[in-house]
This record gives sequence, structure tokens and C-alpha cells, in this order.
Amino acid sequence: MEFKTLPVVQGDYQLRDYDETVAAFSWADAEKQFSWHESGKVNIAHEAVDRHAESYRKNKVALYYKDGNRKEAYTYYQMKRMTNKSANVLRNHSTLERGDRLFIFMPRSPELYFSLIGTLKLGVIVGPLFEAFMEGAIFDRLSDSEAKAIITTPELVDRIPVDKLPHLKTIFLIGENIVEDGMIVDFNKHMKNASHSFQVEWMDKEDPTLLHYTSGSTGKPKGVLHVQEAMVQQLQTTRWVLDLNDEDIFWCTADPGWVTGTAYGIFGPMLAGGTMLVVGGRFSTEGWYEAIEEYGVTVWYSAPTAFRMLMGAGEGPMKNNDLSSLRHILSVGEPLNPEVIRWGMDAFKQRIHDTWWMTETGAQTICNFGCLPIKPGSMGKPVPGIEAVIVDDQGNILPPNQMGNLAIKKGWPAMMRQIWNNPEKYDSYFVNGEWYVSGDSAYMDEDGYFFFQGRVDDVIMTSGERVGPFEVESKLLEHPAVVEAGVIGKPDPVRGEIIKAFVALHEGYEPTDELKEEIRQFVKKGLAAHSAPREIEFKDSLPKTRSGKIMRRVLKAWELDLPAGDLSTMEV
Ligand code: WT7
Repeated sequence: MEFKTLPVVQGDYQLRDYDETVAAFSWADAEKQFSWHESGKVNIAHEAVDRHAESYRKNKVALYYKDGNRKEAYTYYQMKRMTNKSANVLRNHSTLERGDRLFIFMPRSPELYFSLIGTLKLGVIVGPLFEAFMEGAIFDRLSDSEAKAIITTPELVDRIPVDKLPHLKTIFLIGENIVEDGMIVDFNKHMKNASHSFQVEWMDKEDPTLLHYTSGSTGKPKGVLHVQEAMVQQLQTTRWVLDLNDEDIFWCTADPGWVTGTAYGIFGPMLAGGTMLVVGGRFSTEGWYEAIEEYGVTVWYSAPTAFRMLMGAGEGPMKNNDLSSLRHILSVGEPLNPEVIRWGMDAFKQRIHDTWWMTETGAQTICNFGCLPIKPGSMGKPVPGIEAVIVDDQGNILPPNQMGNLAIKKGWPAMMRQIWNNPEKYDSYFVNGEWYVSGDSAYMDEDGYFFFQGRVDDVIMTSGERVGPFEVESKLLEHPAVVEAGVIGKPDPVRGEIIKAFVALHEGYEPTDELKEEIRQFVKKGLAAHSAPREIEFKDSLPKTRSGKIMRRVLKAWELDLPAGDLSTMEV
């Protein structure tokens, strides 16, 4: 295949020579930039906040926050105090101990960031939850991890099925007019009087920090557990890939409910002592361009869906704002269409750098770097220190230009260390005990660039969010009208994929548009808005294997008008 490569834009990139760095680099060396390398005692909250508060960065802004008219700024010194206060509130008003699980379920706000970092100061594991989650999704995550506490708001607290969660002891509420009882604690009230000093818990580099639940093609969402050591890769990639310097203003648009929003929406930039912007609320073309101008964003990390929406909004809204501060733009979450890169060259006069990684990898793994040409359509090359290959189903490494499973050599610092409560599942990710198999199919060209081809499994990526078809199917089956359900991702020009459900109805139910809407709302209210099928098609029955498994492959073939392949296991 022929690709036109795009030129390198000169800048103060910290990764200057890719091949030289690959040859010379080791993670063990990278670890030496942290003082805990010698003591062995570490806490990511100390490294991300306190260390800078005790340095020349003390009065540097760590966090800008903007949501409508609420605009705030916190220096590293203030972040240290606010996170210490949060840690004291959590310690004094709960029975949380090192290694316990606490979830944070609230919209982006400074309090979310204070309390998340504060929790880590206690050595407690944080499970961030996206604010759109509904009762079913919350229950699955809190019960699987036997969470002891949750931080949320009065608007969201009703979605927590307290009666069904025997391990849940404390609910910290952040809001107004809160009535405390044995379980409910008014977080802001206690913040006022809490001490601003706190001795962080010193941890081991293999101790856990974050528990991000994510979807696979089968079963309930799985708890992907990350550890302190991930910080080595988060910092290194923040320098190499985000190219973050001291004077930058960095904006990662992701919510901390997803791994991008913690790894690069909190830790990467703060480990680097950077200044980051958090914008509350939902996507809006005008609002986003305005934020770039108002804060003078220089480095911007977003997702293809967002770029496609901005692209669709045309030049008009762009003209209202000065976007010339932007000097480095990156993307993650889904394939970045060459068309979007071309639009970026036109609109921002620069390249958009695609990055590939997953919840499980914990940090960026395959990326486009400032120092290398971009081949539009490629996710880039492995981060130095990462060994990525294409393997066949037996784990044999394939030569260039052959499609297969994208795999990474086990042992990179940010790699997940456990699937919560499910060691068999964890082991199933690795072939020959050596290669982590990602679930993505891809090929590598003769220059070492990787090209994404699709998911190997049935996982759906819709607007950059990962949705497991099984979860949606299970929820659909709870609706009284539904007897069978099969869910697939249907290609969509803006969202990448949309969720499409094929549904067979119980006798006596009429296949009406009203019923479709009712079923859609049922999933939305039970799981989350982004999990609800945008399209529902009624069928008399669904294709199944003889053992009764819905054949999503056949549904997909129906949808796309493709040959359905081997149907020998299909029940007829
Ligand atoms: C899946 C992981 C941590 C990043 C946010 C998503 C898809 C991710 C790319 C890319 C094509 C991509 C893959 C991957 N994906 N980045 N640059 N090009 N596909 O994390 O929710 O764990 O999803 O997102 O399919 O397996 P996630």
C-alpha cells in the first residue's frame, strides 16, 4: 500500500531521535528520575502534587477549571492543601484502609480531582465512574469490587442501590443542604475544618491505585487494576508523546470515568508539573473553541468523534475564536480517519497525532511522535521501551504487512496487574505467558508503523466509548417484551460505530416504533445513555449456535450485506 507521509513540524520535542531512543532506552533507567527509585516507597499523589508544591512550581497553576460561569484555578500549593484536606475528611469519616475500594461518581469539578488524589494519599484504590452510569452499571462495579465507600452528589445518589450493596459503608455527598446520617457524610462541610496537612501512605510500586471497569465481548464489565509503577510510563509518554513542557497549557477532553481521563487527564500532566485545563459539561463546538482561546491551550488531546463533530460544524464557528495557541494536537480512542488529519492540516495548520492504547495497557503504547513523519491511517510506532508485534492465533510472530492480532511483550510499567476477582480472565489475555494480546487486529508495515484493522471480538467503540454487547443484550432481555437480543456495532461516519440491536419479541407484543423507543429508554435508564441502542430492528428470531449463543457475526453480515461465512454451527 502507498501512503503519502506528512512532514515533521519543528518544535521543542523531547523525543528527538526515535531510533536512537529505542536503542538506548530502558524502563529501569526511566524509573531513576523518581526519588522513590532508591527508597522503594512511593505514592503517586505525592509525585503528582506534593513534590511540585515543594519545588519552584509551588505557585504554578496545576488545574484550571471551567464550566459555564464557574471558573477556578489551583496552584500546586493549593492542590496539595485541598488533596490533604480531602484525605483527612475521608480518613476521619469512614473506616477506609489501605487497599480498600472507593468509587467516585460525579461530574468533572475541582472536588472530583481533589478527592480522587486525596483517596490515593490514603493508599485506597479509586474506581472512577462516568456520571452517565445508571443503577445497573453502578451495582455491577461496586458489588464486584466490594467497595466500602463512594463519593457522589445529591443528584446522582439515588442511582446507588444501597440495599443491594452490603459492603458499602459510607457515602460522601458533595453538594448543598446535605443531611448526614450513619452512612451519609457531608464532604464540603468537613472540608472546611479539615487540616491541610496529611502524611501520605507510603506504598510499594506494585501496590494498586486505580480500578477502571471496562467492557469485553462476553460477561460483565471487568475491573482492570493499575499500580503505582504506571507513573513511570505516564510521565515518560507525557514528555515524548504529548510533548508537554513547563510553559504549556494542556487540555485532555476525556472524563476521568475513562482511563484517558485519569492517565492523561490527571497523572501524566501533573507528574510532569504541567498546567492542565478541565472543562465541565458536555461537548459543544463553540464552547470548546472558546476554551482553547480563553486558556491559550497549547497541547490538546481529544478523540476522533470530537474532531469529526468539529469538522462537521465547518469553518464558521472556528472563525469566532483565535486558535493559534495550539501547537500540538493528539487523538485517541478510535481510528483517526486520514480525512480528519487532512482537515486538521487545513483548520489548525498542523498534524493530529493518533495514539493507540487501551484501559488494559494503562498508558500510551503505539503513537505518532513529533519527531516522526505521520502516515495518515496509521496509529504510529511503539513507544520506546514497548515491544509490539503482530501474532497469529497460536502466538507466532508474523512478518510485516500481514494482518493478525496486535500483541505487546508483557512487562511494561503501566500494564494492568489484575482483573479484579478474576485471575483466569487475566491469564487469558496472554499467549505463551509472554505476549499480551490486545483484541485488536492490525498489521505493521515495513517501516514499523502499525495500522488498526478492527476489533477481533465484538466489542463496540461508539463515540470513543467502549461498550460490551453482552451487557446491552442482558439489559434488553430484562425488558418484558424481549425474548432474544443480539447487539452489534454498525459503522457510522461521526460516531465510528453506533449500537444496533436486533430484537425478537415475546408473543403478544406488537413491533411498533413506540415499543422501540420504550426499549431504548429502558437500556438508557438501566445502564447508561451511551449503551442504549440507537437503532433497533425487530426480527421473528435471531441466528443462534446449537448451544444457543446469538451469532453476532451473522447479524453484522445481515447489516452490512456481507457473506455470513461459516454457518455450520448455526441452528436452523
Ligand atoms: C480500544 C480500547 C485508552 C484509550 C481510550 C480507549 C480502540 C483506542 C485507538 C486508535 C484505533 C483505537 C481499540 C482498543 N482504540 N485507540 N488510535 N485507533 N482504535 O480505551 O476504552 O480501553 O478501548 O479502543 O479498539 O482496543 P478503551
